[in-house]
Amino acid sequence: MSVLEPCVFTIFGSTGHLSRTKLLPSLYHLEAENRLPAGIAIVCVGRKPWDDETWRKEVTRWLEERIGNNLDASCLARFLGKVFYFLGDIEEVETFRLLKEYLEKNPSFPSNFVFYLSLPPTEYKMVAQRLALNDLNKENNGWRRLVIEKPFGYDLEDACTLDHSLRLNFSEQQLYRIDHYLGKETVQNVFVFRFANLLLEPMWNRNYIDHVQITHAEVAGIEDRAEFYDSAGALRDMIQSHLLQLLTLVAMEPPPNLDAESIRDEKVKVLKSIRPITKNAVHAHSFRAQYGRGRIGNDNIPGYLDEKSIPNQSTTETFAAIKLYIDNWRWRNVPFYLRTGKRLAESHSMISIRFRHPPQQLFRETQIQEIAPNWLLLGIQPEQCIRAELQVREPGIGMRTRTTQLDASTCSTTGGGYHLDAYEALLLDVIEGDHSQYLRSDEVNWAWRVVDPILKVWAVERDFIPTYPAGSWGPQEANRLFEKESQTWRNNLASE
Ligand code: BG6
Repeated sequence: MSVLEPCVFTIFGSTGHLSRTKLLPSLYHLEAENRLPAGIAIVCVGRKPWDDETWRKEVTRWLEERIGNNLDASCLARFLGKVFYFLGDIEEVETFRLLKEYLEKNPSFPSNFVFYLSLPPTEYKMVAQRLALNDLNKENNGWRRLVIEKPFGYDLEDACTLDHSLRLNFSEQQLYRIDHYLGKETVQNVFVFRFANLLLEPMWNRNYIDHVQITHAEVAGIEDRAEFYDSAGALRDMIQSHLLQLLTLVAMEPPPNLDAESIRDEKVKVLKSIRPITKNAVHAHSFRAQYGRGRIGNDNIPGYLDEKSIPNQSTTETFAAIKLYIDNWRWRNVPFYLRTGKRLAESHSMISIRFRHPPQQLFRETQIQEIAPNWLLLGIQPEQCIRAELQVREPGIGMRTRTTQLDASTCSTTGGGYHLDAYEALLLDVIEGDHSQYLRSDEVNWAWRVVDPILKVWAVERDFIPTYPAGSWGPQEANRLFEKESQTWRNNLASE
């Protein structure tokens, strides 16, 4: 483990949802595991008229809510000693001058600064400019790193504009574009599983793989993010970022080494090779829908249009599915189906890889009607696992087969050791200056290029959107993306 340099970790938007539910709990966990650099100061910028003491009480309350009984009193006291509150409104230019003074004049604060923008993306440009106006981008005394959260822009054009404006003041080396999916254990494991084992490599291509499915299903709805979600929709919120990242990990070539640039070069090559979807092909390659009323467990769930602050004519999609092809030697003509939805039957993220049938139906004259194909299942959450489905002979007279699963639950907690949450791993990376799990600007732009044609068509077709009952697996019509009748959505890890 490398020794981390101390820094001031400044969070803008520290009273918001992300900071409350992810950033501060992750920093606390890192403290509990002694993973934070000695001397770190966590400065939380907020508009509420609070001081350090009130803020620490507030943070304690959030941590109690989140961590409950596992909150350790002495660790909490240590953690709170590192947490500070800076009162300031980012809308006011003066705030940034005062912040600079605050950060630089405090003798106990380290000279390296991380600025984490836990803010609506529309604020990124302004905050970056104001930091720079006060030389808080200059690395004369210590490093300066700026972390931004997806969505990086609203569409391809907007993403390019945002990137241009950030790059006026911060170099690519100073920018950390976070996609928390890259910090998840199984997601990192896809990389190891593919490149630390020779076994699958000869089969990892168009000759053996029938298709790939990447699914992110959520029981949760839009929570308290109506305004953001209604302007974003599922394609921007999940597919442009998280699911395309998963696709790159499944499809990329082995990088020459583990440098951030080498890994990201390979991911960019995949995105560049995705066959562009022409305007006329948008319907054949994509499907969207919105949840209506329904039931999940014992609860009656309101429809999307009944949610607070959602306009009653909204045609924003809460379910999106797309079909992509990667035009390179390895993957040509293998469909990749990406699907995501809110208010679905289960919360589940997984990558399912279906292999082709054997070339000869050798068992045709036996009781076996049709041999089920092999699947490789990579469970991301809630269950973290890698499973291969194979056919074996059923014991007894006659020739019958059944599906068995080889389970390599490598991330199981029984293996001992501590398991980092996605955010914890990524926050450490930024302090360490490791970009390998962060997105590079060209990577983001190529991902926008993939979805942009769909967004453009959907933006003008706003009269109607199909619906699905909350608590279902989405509408049947999503099946029309499949190339063949034998392809169907894989909804869980249990053998079929
Ligand atoms: C976020 C999306 O990026 O990822 C949310 O904005 C989504 O809408 C979330 O719920 C899913 O993340 P996770 O880690 O809960 O699967």
